Amino acid sequence: MWNIWGIALLAVHICVVSGSGRSLFSNTTIGANTTSHLPAVYPWDKLLDQSFYFYEAQRSGKLPEAHKILWRGDSALKDLGPKGEDLSGGHYNNGGFLKNVFPYASTTSTIAWGVLEFKQAYKDAEVYDEALDHLKWAAKFLLACHIEQDLYVAAIGMNRFDYPQWSRPEDMHERRPVYIVDSGMSSSDLLGSASAGLTAVSLVFKEENSTFAYECLVKAQALYA
Ligand SMILES: *[C@@H]1O[C@H](CO)[C@@H](O)[C@H](O)[C@H]1NC(C)=O
Ligand SMILES: *[C@@H]1O[C@H](CO)[C@@H](O)[C@H](O)[C@H]1NC(C)=O
Ligand SMILES: *[C@@H]1O[C@H](CO)[C@@H](O)[C@H](O)[C@H]1NC(C)=O
Repeated sequence: MWNIWGIALLAVHICVVSGSGRSLFSNTTIGANTTSHLPAVYPWDKLLDQSFYFYEAQRSGKLPEAHKILWRGDSALKDLGPKGEDLSGGHYNNGGFLKNVFPYASTTSTIAWGVLEFKQAYKDAEVYDEALDHLKWAAKFLLACHIEQDLYVAAIGMNRFDYPQWSRPEDMHERRPVYIVDSGMSSSDLLGSASAGLTAVSLVFKEENSTFAYECLVKAQALYA
C-alpha cells in the first residue's frame, strides 16, 4: 500500500495544482476555490518539482540514460511474468520494494486528472514535461501488466519480505512472485482502476502523442470490457 509519503505527496499534488490558479502561477482562476486553507505564499512550482523528483526516485526497472537522480540505477529487472513477460518498470510503492498495481493505478488517475484540469498551471510551473514523463512511465507499466487477454498483474513482490526492506533495490537480484488476477476472480475494482488510469493518461496525451494516447485508450477499453 502507499505509505504516508505517497499519500502526502498526492495531497500535495492536488493542493498545489488547485491552489496555483488562485495565486502564484497565473493571475486567472483556473480551478475551484477548494484550497483556501493553504497560504498563498508556498512556492507551488518548487513543491510540484520536488514531488516529481520523489516519483523519479521511486522508479523501478531500467532507467533512461539521462536520469536525474544519479544515486539511482536499474533495479528489479527480473520482474517477469509466468511466460517471461517483462514486468520491470513502474514505481516502488513506498520505502520497500513492493509494486502494488491497485494503488498505483489510482495514483496515476489522480495525477493525470490534475494535469488535465490544470494544464496551464503545470506549464507555468515548468513541470509539464516532467508530468508527461511521469505519466508515460506509469502508463507503460499499467499496459505491461495486461499480460494476456484474461490476465492482469495485481502485485509484484512478497509483502512479508519486500515491504519492510530498507536496502537498495539495485541490490535485489531475485526473481519475485507475481500476483495475477484472471476473469474468474472478482477483480473489477483493480481492472476498473487500471482502465481509469489509462483513460486519464490517454486524454493527457491526446494532443502530445496520439499514438501513445490511442495505445492507452485501446487497453483501457479492453480492461473495462
Ligand atoms: C492580477 O490581476 C489584478 C487585476 O486584474 C491586478 O491588479 C494584479 O496586479 C495582478 N497580479 C499579478 C501578480 O499579476
Ligand atoms: C476562497 O474561500 C475562502 C473561505 O472559504 C474565502 O475567504 C475566499 O474569499 C475565497 N476566495 C475566492 C477567490 O473566492
Ligand atoms: C509516442 O509514443 C510512442 C510510444 O511510447 C513512442 O514510440 C514515440 O516515439 C512517441 N512519439 C513522439 C513524437 O514522442
